[in-house]
Order: sequence, then C-alpha cells, then structure tokens
Amino acid sequence: MDAEKLTDEVLEAYAGTPDPRLRELLAALIRHLHAFAMETALTPQEWMAGIEFLTAVGQKCDPQRQEFILLSDVLGLSSLVETLNAADGATEPTVLGPFYLPGAPRRELGEQIGRAEDGDPALIRGRVTDPAGRPISGATLDVWQGNSNGLYDIQDPGQPEFNLRGVFTTGADGNYSFRTIRPVSYPVPIDGPVGEVFRASGRHNWRAAHVHAIVSAAGYRPVTTHIFDSANEYLDSDAVFGVRDSLIQEFRAAGPGDPDDVTYVVDVDFALAPSVA
Ligand code: BEZ
Ligand code: FE
Repeated sequence: MDAEKLTDEVLEAYAGTPDPRLRELLAALIRHLHAFAMETALTPQEWMAGIEFLTAVGQKCDPQRQEFILLSDVLGLSSLVETLNAADGATEPTVLGPFYLPGAPRRELGEQIGRAEDGDPALIRGRVTDPAGRPISGATLDVWQGNSNGLYDIQDPGQPEFNLRGVFTTGADGNYSFRTIRPVSYPVPIDGPVGEVFRASGRHNWRAAHVHAIVSAAGYRPVTTHIFDSANEYLDSDAVFGVRDSLIQEFRAAGPGDPDDVTYVVDVDFALAPSVA
C-alpha cells in the first residue's frame, strides 16, 4: 500500500470529528506522526521500543511524580507551549515544572518563606504592573523553590510542608517583597525512563538556579514564570530549556540601605497583560 494514501485514509476517518478544535488537533497529530515514521523509515522494532518507553513513562507516574510532564519538559515541548501562549507586553512565561503545590500559605509582604538553615538569605522585591507600567494592586504572587540541598519540600522529608512556598498580595502601589534564599542549581530526576533520554543523548540534567512564580490578578492573564540567577553556570544549557534572557536577574550583595538580615537583594518587576474579553 502507498504510505501517503494510508495517511489520507486515516485523516479521512477522523475528518468528521464534531468538535472543530479536536478535529484540527487530531488531523495535525496524525499528519506529523505519519511524517515522522516516513522521514525516519521507522522499523517495527523501533516502533515497539517507543511503545515500551511510553508505557514505562506512564507506569512511573503517581500522584507525586508526573513523568509525562518531565518528558515534555526535557524535549522542550513544555517550554514551546509556554512561548506560543505568551502575552504581548507581559513578563515572559516559562515551564511550571512538577513541584508546584496549590494551597501554599498566604504571607505578609516581606515575610520569609523558608527557614534560616535553607540557604543564603535573599530579599526579592518589586512591582506588578500592566504593560504600560501602571501598578496592579491586589495582584497575587505564588512563589516556590527548592532549598540549598537542591530539593523541594515534597522531595525531602527533612523539610516541613510548604517550606519555601508562599502566596503574597501586592499593596496599593503594586509592590511586593518576600524573603527567601538564593536558589541553587539542581538535577531533574533521572531515576525513571526520562533518565534514559539524558543518558542516551549525553545531556546533563541540571536546571539553572531559579525561583518559581505564578503572578495573577483579576482582569489579567496569569503568568507562570521564573527568576533566574544571572551568576548561574547552567543558564545556557538548562535541562528543560526554560531560560529566557528577560527573566535573568542579579542577586546583588546587600549593602548600605538594605535590610541587615539578608545577604542578597533582587529587584524584579512583573507585568501582566489584560485578559481577552
Ligand atoms: C522545576 O523547575 O522545578 C522543574 C521543571 C521541569 C522539570 C523538572 C523540574
Ligand atoms: Fe524548579
């Protein structure tokens, strides 16, 4: 049978899918999957190896571990989807990652989100604005990060629940601030099938040091983003392709005029674009 005729026959079989968006997604998926097999002259053994790999990815998933998202991350798909959905004039988005926990404690502006032993104390502060720079009061910053052992609270029995997590609300001037630690690089998990992707390709599995944030406000599109440390060695080779130049910030040494309980200070503003009506 002619390979292209087969592709057309499959496309035709799905052409009556009632939901228009699902019809579009299914047709594009079929076209690209078939093109992949044809371009690579995929063998039955390779097809089976792919099936077994995807099966193992699914079997690795549990309520704490989402190996499919990790696979999407390391293939750059998660980062691409964020980029495709970025709003003009807003802070650039990047990957959510697998360690977000909804329901972190609400905290007062300036409050510490972790413990003294978590790492080098840092103050992160700035404003949330619209694309024209007008302050947004009542905006929410949901922030989280790992501690200096490279682990998030949910990976580390030595950390209390919701350690290094917090939800902040901007004041009338759009300002926010919180105390945390300077983030460190950490390796993404390679004890599952996605680890094989790293080993087979010779890539390292380190993430550039970052603090996560989801910034949101009523009437605006939320942004899932990071604050990257400009001194980090993995900015050019982040394991999940999450780095954007606009998200790289200096953790500058605290000096005169800064609070004396922090070693580093980061000034970073976030911009949100209005929701589309
Ligand atoms: C993270 O930043 O937490 C993360 C993102 C993608 C994969 C693994 C970890
Ligand atoms: Fe992270």
